Amino acid sequence: MRTYETIAQLQGALRDFRQKGLTVAFVPTMGNLHEGHLDLVRRARTRCDIIVVSIFVNPLQFGPNEDLDAYPRTLAADKEKLFREGTHVLYAPGVEEIYPEGMAAHTHVRVPDLSETLCGSSRPGHFDGVTTIVSKLFNIVQPDVAVFGEKDFQQLSIIRKMVSDLRMPVEIVGVATARDEDGLAKSSRNGYLTRAQREVAPVLHQTLLSCREAIACGFDNFLQLESHARMQLLQAGFEPDYFEIRDARSLRTVTEETEEIAILAAARLGKTRLIDNVRLALNPVSDWGMLAEH
Ligand code: PAF
Repeated sequence: MRTYETIAQLQGALRDFRQKGLTVAFVPTMGNLHEGHLDLVRRARTRCDIIVVSIFVNPLQFGPNEDLDAYPRTLAADKEKLFREGTHVLYAPGVEEIYPEGMAAHTHVRVPDLSETLCGSSRPGHFDGVTTIVSKLFNIVQPDVAVFGEKDFQQLSIIRKMVSDLRMPVEIVGVATARDEDGLAKSSRNGYLTRAQREVAPVLHQTLLSCREAIACGFDNFLQLESHARMQLLQAGFEPDYFEIRDARSLRTVTEETEEIAILAAARLGKTRLIDNVRLALNPVSDWGMLAEH
């Protein structure tokens, strides 16, 4: 595995691969890698010849009240994990390389509407930071395929929209959420949980599953389901940010045209904000019949 810190070095190496006719899959990350990230690398390997992973803690997607400095930097351990998974290239630039004139002076890429709802309302500007860095990384790496986790379902939807709107020549692949045995979605943030909070944390996924079950059984009062779920989370010790039943494609309210429902939640346990989602494909013949659960 080769590690590059500059755009010039990375592009030189990628040029050689391309001249040999090899295809490139890209997995952007912020490091502190866990099994969920490694699933993305494994999926990437099934799709292309060359796997490029980036590790860049992007300051542009952190809000003023979010502790950028406390974000875990674990480069040596990350490198070892990536090497073991057969990664060919690691791109690990510094902030200067990406934002040489500072972040404020840098061009921003923004997907309106989708970026403002759900996590976007409690983290203003967060998704603008994500779309700016992801589009820049796409331009630098020019991958054939890019792989993202479905745990960050809103992020994945926003990136798909950006790629479609801007006709970016890259295929976006979503990978199912990796979970611990008790259902908790794997996340870098789980490491912040105290032992007591870690015991409570799976309730987030359980609440999503009960809500999906109720919809699959024909219960269609979504407002009631959402407020019941928020109450369950409160009772378990969470401070819910949102619990929403939405159209999985538009992330707007469910309509008659909805083919798949996404149930999305964000909630704090102490200082740690956890997010998760489940989906439910609707049977076009019977109104709320279930085809597949994700
Ligand atoms: O999901 C993440 O880790 C980040 O938002 C991403 C896509 C690497 C952009 O910084």
